[in-house]
Amino acid sequence: MAKPLTFVCAECGATHPRWSGRCDACGAWNTIQEEAPLSAGPTKKSLGGGRGQTLALMDLATEEAPPPRTRAGLEELDRVLGGGLVPASALLVGGDPGIGKSTLLLQAAARFAEAGLSCIYVSGEEASAQVRMRAQRLGLGKAPVRLAAETNLRDILTTLDRERPDLAIIDSVQTMWSDNVEAAPGSVSQVRAAAHELVTFAKRRGTAVILVGHVTKEGQIAGPRVVEHMVDTVLYFEGERGHQFRILRAVKNRFGPADEIGVFEMTGEGLRQVTNPSALFLSDRETRAPGTAVFAGIEGTRPVLVEFQALVAPSPTAQARRTVVGWDSGRLAMILAVLEARCSIPFAGLDVYLNVAGGIRVSEPAADLAVAAALLSAREDVALPPDMVVFGEISLTGALRPVGQTENRLKEAQKLGFSQAALPERSKVKAPDGVSMRQVSDLTAFVGEMFGAG
Ligand code: TYD
Ligand code: MG
Repeated sequence: MAKPLTFVCAECGATHPRWSGRCDACGAWNTIQEEAPLSAGPTKKSLGGGRGQTLALMDLATEEAPPPRTRAGLEELDRVLGGGLVPASALLVGGDPGIGKSTLLLQAAARFAEAGLSCIYVSGEEASAQVRMRAQRLGLGKAPVRLAAETNLRDILTTLDRERPDLAIIDSVQTMWSDNVEAAPGSVSQVRAAAHELVTFAKRRGTAVILVGHVTKEGQIAGPRVVEHMVDTVLYFEGERGHQFRILRAVKNRFGPADEIGVFEMTGEGLRQVTNPSALFLSDRETRAPGTAVFAGIEGTRPVLVEFQALVAPSPTAQARRTVVGWDSGRLAMILAVLEARCSIPFAGLDVYLNVAGGIRVSEPAADLAVAAALLSAREDVALPPDMVVFGEISLTGALRPVGQTENRLKEAQKLGFSQAALPERSKVKAPDGVSMRQVSDLTAFVGEMFGAG
């Protein structure tokens, strides 16, 4: 009897018993593909019975030395990796096409090669000559990185097996194909099989393997989420169209903290690291503009100041708009509801636009108070003091909750020349020199303090 086919979402990898237009698991449209059944597995008999090999069991208390790491010497990259590259680790670097993944990895390969690792860069998308031209443009023409342009996984693995490099970069996993799998390159089956083979190789041979994965909108090729669970570390390279800077974000890391970010700027000579992101994110700031508030945030282990911008205008339609870039729209709805219910400040009939300047995404609840400040400032058309930072979490009762790392946030504000901070009353900290703290207990008190009403 033929084995039943399964259907797999190219976006999230969920399996379904039948085809449908929309994936129930992730909600994506037109991403479900047929997957060939796996070849017949082991016999149906029980696997026990003594024919396998005995495993060497270890005590939980066995001392394990921390993995030796190699630093690229690019602080923004090394920090996101958790302090450098770990041998035998498997990494995935995902991102939109054209965002700069190949550029980043070529630069990283050159740095790691200079740090003494043997590196092989396999491009399945560009000819070797193109990669070399890019390397020259990046001033890396002489870096000891070896190249190959190939998509046949068997040939790639044979080569890697012979060369045993310390680091292999596969750009991209979606172009690779294995002759063991009867499916088109880029299909879920192929991408999974290629990732599986490469990750297994990394563990077996001690080579660190970096897989590049394009994020797809159309579902024609499998997205990187299909392989996220197979690798040790998942990094996403993000940026907004029309902005020069790029953020490398760790979303999973078995060898370091997740949520860490590295900031880069795309220039004519490749990516340049940005070691003081606050200064960059605030560089275009117009002080004394109503509708803006500077948030003292924490990204990973590092404080970062960013500007929230809001526009509040009478809505020409019955259904008022709520448009958000860089912040959670559900959280915006909650803050608007709290302002209405607890402070009697209505937003009905008003269009609300909220934006984080510079294209960075903020996900901390600590930004609640900065969002509220920007909204109020826009609605009242009153600018906040230009030298003030704002942070604090808002609860549904309208009370302000203290947030973590208050001291680091204040220090960063001080470093960038801010002299006031609005924050929750219950935060127990000493103000750094030159920063005066305006501590408030709840949102109503904040409105009174800043806008003389409430
Ligand atoms: P690329 O690394 O090819 O993106 P990806 O691998 O994620 O698809 O980068 C593509 C873009 O970066 C391209 O639009 C040109 C730009 N770029 C620069 O601005 N400066 C540079 O030095 C390089 C190499 C690329
Ligand atoms: Mg590329």
